[in-house]
Amino acid sequence: MITVGVLTISDRGARGEYEDKSGPVIRAIVTERLGARLVKYEIIPDEIELIRSTLINWADEAGLDLILTTGGTGFAPRDVTPEATRAVIERETPGLTEAMRAESLKVTPHAMLSRAVAGIRGHTLIINLPGSPKAVRENLETILPALPHGLELLQGLAGADQRHEHKEPVKE
Ligand code: MTE
Repeated sequence: MITVGVLTISDRGARGEYEDKSGPVIRAIVTERLGARLVKYEIIPDEIELIRSTLINWADEAGLDLILTTGGTGFAPRDVTPEATRAVIERETPGLTEAMRAESLKVTPHAMLSRAVAGIRGHTLIINLPGSPKAVRENLETILPALPHGLELLQGLAGADQRHEHKEPVKE
C-alpha cells in the first residue's frame, strides 16, 4: 500500500486563523483513488527551514512513498515551498509539473504563476501542489493516472519486463 504524507504550508493555517480545506481534499483523492494510506499530516508556516526539515524527516525517517505539499508556490514574498523542495530532492521530475501547468492553463492563466517543483529523494516522491482546494483538485487529477506506475518504478518493483508491458500500445 502506498504511504502518503500531506504537508499544508500556510502561515494563516498554521496560526489556526483559517481551516485547511486543501489537505482534506488531497487525503480524499489519494485514499479513494490510489488506495493509499495517509501516514503524516501537518500544517506548518511558510518557513523554509521548517519545510525542508519536515520533508527530510518524512522521506528519510518515516520512509513515505509520496509527499504532497499544498501552498506557497506562488509569487508572494513568503512563498518558499519550491525553494525548500529543491533543496531536498536529488532528482527532479519535471514531467509532473509540466503536465500540471499545461492542464491548469486550460482552466486559468494564473496557472503560470505556480512555481511548483517535484522530485525524488531516495525512494520518496515529493510533489508541490498550489494552495487552493480547487487548484489542488485540478492539479492532482492531472498527474493521478501516472502516479501508481511512477511509484512502482521508484520502489524498484517494476522490472524491465513489466516496464515493457506498461508501454502504450502502438497505434495502427
Ligand atoms: N492551477 C489550477 N489548476 N487551478 C487554479 O485555480 N491557481 C493558480 C496556480 N495554479 C490555480 C492553479 C494561482 S492563482 C496561483 S497564485 C498559483 O497556482 C500558486 O498558488 P499558491 O501560491 O497557492 O501555491
